[in-house]
Amino acid sequence: MLHDMLDDLFAPLSQALENRLTTLTVQETGTVTHVGQGIAYVSGLPGVQAEELVRFPDGLFGMAYNLDADEIGVILLGDSTAVMAGAEVRRTERVVDVPVGHALLGRVVDATGQPLDHKGRVRTVERRPIERPAPAIMDRAPVTVPLQTGLKVVDALIPIGRGQRELILGDRQTGKTAIALDTILNQRDGDVLCVYCAIGQRSAAVAKVIADLHAYGALDTCIVVVASGEDPPGLQFITPYAATTMAEYFMEQGRDVLIVYDDLTRHARAYRELSLLLRRPPGREAYPGDIFYIHSRLLERSTHLRPEHGGGSLTALPIVETQVQNLSAYIPTNLISIADGQLYLSPELFQKGLLPAVDVGKSVSRVGGKTQLPAYRSVAGDLRLSYAQFEELETFSRFGTRLDERTRQTIERGRRVREVLKQPQYATLSAADQIASLHAVVEGLFDVLTPDEVSVAEQAVRRAVSERLPDICTRIEAGEPLEGAGHDALLRVAREAIEMRVE
Ligand SMILES: Nc1ncnc2c1ncn2[C@@H]1O[C@H](COP(=O)(O)OP(=O)(O)OP(=O)(O)O)[C@@H](O)[C@H]1O
Ligand SMILES: [Mg+2]
Repeated sequence: MLHDMLDDLFAPLSQALENRLTTLTVQETGTVTHVGQGIAYVSGLPGVQAEELVRFPDGLFGMAYNLDADEIGVILLGDSTAVMAGAEVRRTERVVDVPVGHALLGRVVDATGQPLDHKGRVRTVERRPIERPAPAIMDRAPVTVPLQTGLKVVDALIPIGRGQRELILGDRQTGKTAIALDTILNQRDGDVLCVYCAIGQRSAAVAKVIADLHAYGALDTCIVVVASGEDPPGLQFITPYAATTMAEYFMEQGRDVLIVYDDLTRHARAYRELSLLLRRPPGREAYPGDIFYIHSRLLERSTHLRPEHGGGSLTALPIVETQVQNLSAYIPTNLISIADGQLYLSPELFQKGLLPAVDVGKSVSRVGGKTQLPAYRSVAGDLRLSYAQFEELETFSRFGTRLDERTRQTIERGRRVREVLKQPQYATLSAADQIASLHAVVEGLFDVLTPDEVSVAEQAVRRAVSERLPDICTRIEAGEPLEGAGHDALLRVAREAIEMRVE
């Protein structure tokens, strides 16, 4: 009897005790031994894995980076002033990941996916690690579809394909961001989603880009991922990887995605800062030995997938800043060798007002030629070569040499081509509009005008062609070559437009 009573009394107690015991977990905790600007050293986490997320007090996270026998070096993903020596550090047993999904479109977020735009929480359901292996060689398809930038000089002379990595490099204030931004704006009515990843820039510059995206109606199909110059170097370092993971989500769903990294010079600098603080041996220009690898593994994630894998693509436009036009500095040469081509922006052209300041001679697209819409090839197939020839002749003619008639003609034609290739910012053109202008100049229709008159005449030609030959325009956009009849019609309409303008 007494036994039963005791049983009744203790049963709930032992039950509670059992429940309690099953939830008991063992957690490794470490201690901060040393804190630097953006990094911390931690001892006592023997089981921690490379790039594992560790948690400091007050919700600050860090990424385990240097794994030494008795200590680990941690890259802090937040403000290091809050961390004290002696603070407790816990493992999380997961790597750094970010939210992915459609809810991110139209949003401005930081490298961890936290909103920066006061539009409330980003409602995503899935998270993916920021570092993911690049698609295998057998999963990749050749680059065949053009990515229209809307800029004549790029689309006609240095075409970019979907899945390509094309570097934009040049000195400061030469219009690098402008080219990337125009390319994003040109996708607003198309099927390409965009990710603009700002690394280490002034907040005002980023705010201007966001305002432009908003003003020109491109923000809704765009994700902006920002780590500005005043953010901790750890955040700046992980930002491009996080942005790429967000972009890959759409690529894996079969979408075409464009990602702009603005810019990787600052990314390299943030990584150099962290590496030096983590006492990694410095190499050339004090960059650590793995600086090539951090960029190659990032850019290798851009590709065109085979149809079995959805056929999506990720096109990358990494931006690099050069100093006094030095293309052979460490980071620019590394990136030139990783990417599939480069657009080089020259400060001299910028000063002369030849905008976009693309130096055609120093720019190249290693896969784009095959991807160009056929109409470009029939109209401007050898334009690149003849333009290069013209530039050389023009330099030569400055020495006051007497020129024969053919050379003079080549130079005069070249000057008009140069006028046609000029384009203001925020004024991207459809393929048909570009073809109309290029066709007119290549056929010599502007030769009767002075270079100053070309710009107005070019606009007249474009307007006339789009009004009077809408079906040819549709055919050009659909990827048909410009055949004999279309060619003649274009020539007739353009000639009439120029004559009417002259009268
Ligand atoms: N095609 C263009 N037509 C007119 N203005 C342009 C054009 N391209 C760029 N600009 C102007 O040139 C200036 C510099 O451009 P931008 O900010 O894109 O250069 P950047 O190389 O990205 O500079 P930074 O080195 O500061 O990042 C801007 O004021 C921009 O409006
Ligand atoms: Mg810029």
